[in-house]
Amino acid sequence: MPGVVVVGAQWGDEGKGKATDQLGDRVDYCVRYSGGNNAGHTVVVNGERYALHLLPSGILNRQCVPVIGNGVVVDLDVLFSEMEGLRARGIDSSHMLISANAHIITSYHQVIDKVTERFLGKARIGTTGRGVGPAYSDKVNRIGIRIQDLFDASILRQKVEAALEQKNHLLVKVYNRREIDPVQVTEHLLSHADRIRPHVADVSRILNDALDQGKVVLFEGAQAHHLDVDHGTYPYVTSSNPVAAGACVGTGVGPTRINRVVGIAKAYTTRVGEGPMPTELLDADGDRLREIGAEFGTTTGRKRRCGWFDGLVVEAAAKANAFTDIFLTKLDVLTGWERIPVCVGYKIDGRRLDVLPVSQTDFHHAVPIYEELDGWTEDISGCRHFDDLPKNTQAYVNRLEELCGARISGIGVGPSREQSIVINSLL
Ligand code: GDP
Ligand code: IMO
Ligand code: MG
Repeated sequence: MPGVVVVGAQWGDEGKGKATDQLGDRVDYCVRYSGGNNAGHTVVVNGERYALHLLPSGILNRQCVPVIGNGVVVDLDVLFSEMEGLRARGIDSSHMLISANAHIITSYHQVIDKVTERFLGKARIGTTGRGVGPAYSDKVNRIGIRIQDLFDASILRQKVEAALEQKNHLLVKVYNRREIDPVQVTEHLLSHADRIRPHVADVSRILNDALDQGKVVLFEGAQAHHLDVDHGTYPYVTSSNPVAAGACVGTGVGPTRINRVVGIAKAYTTRVGEGPMPTELLDADGDRLREIGAEFGTTTGRKRRCGWFDGLVVEAAAKANAFTDIFLTKLDVLTGWERIPVCVGYKIDGRRLDVLPVSQTDFHHAVPIYEELDGWTEDISGCRHFDDLPKNTQAYVNRLEELCGARISGIGVGPSREQSIVINSLL
């Protein structure tokens, strides 16, 4: 079972980091294929908490080679500080590999991310402000800077100048900001060249050869299906393709190499930033979910919007990504509610819908239709087998499985590595 993709099934922060780490010491290569340091993946091992933004979570398993694919946008300052932070905690990342084709997030991408959000006012996306969207825009616009450009100073200088020419006009004339000096940007980028050089590799070839040899390659998704620029709640999305198919584009591995697609779904729903979220709770239940689930962003510290589980949201992700399995996280957070509503349909302008609407306008107007399931009061954080769970908890999981249309193969009952229930082995 060598090629496995882990994908967020909702709007991010489902626990992809924990699920990736969970697959553990049988993974040979752990690969980030999309997004940048807008991601924040938390892993708790022996009471120690690690928050990873660019390095794949597999880094915490010693024999696993961490890889950053061509589909990722890389802020080198963040990457090196993450590597240093891990080294200070005894974790070596000197064997990390990075694609020469990965694009770089520069200081001007961060500036533009922030000023455009401010300019949009009420129409803002609520981005993480890390420069991710502007870096992807430049990539598609063919004025991006790639890792390999760091090794040719004169090309790099020309590219930075070309990229900044138009941006400086915008910054000064539209946004009333100071001009950015291309020489300073180039010099800063060049200062990273020697340090990144030993990590640069032909990622596509290495991963394909590894798969040929039967090695286990885990593609760790960032963000989620509903934040995907093509499949998500556009324009309230990120600028890349977190979906499972993005693993192929973002690393140079063909679709026939992917054997398993594991959707990570939270037992309720959260979202950070703007955009539709039909089951959002703006009441005491929402506050309680946020408090018990510690729903504050790993990257920006923002309060996550919280709501009940939305079966339509996860079912759509299961279908479009062909989930072979679901890992259901944070089930422990739901302990203590007498009844737990689960969204099984939407009412839109008087019509009932059992799947996500085609039109974004309809999605904004969707009113959830809830089915109420019986809750449980027993502490489930110590359960390690499905049969250990209270009957009502089992019924909740079984109902979610029916709604999602994919089997639930793992359950998270707490943030730590060992706080999980394995129903079907994911590897
Ligand atoms: P990711 O971005 O998908 O990797 O998720 P985040 O790390 O941003 O957010 C998930 C949060 O939930 C982290 O704080 C995890 O430590 C925590 N977490 C993951 N799985 C579980 C679980 O099963 N139960 C509880 N209580 N917390 C969990
Ligand atoms: P992980 O990998 C949750 C959201 C932002 C914003 C939108 C666009 O930890 O699940 P961007 O900075 O990407 O241009 O912001 O996407 N967003 C995330 N929300 N988890 C994430 O990553 C996210 N990455 C981006 O909040 O709404
Ligand atoms: Mg996160």
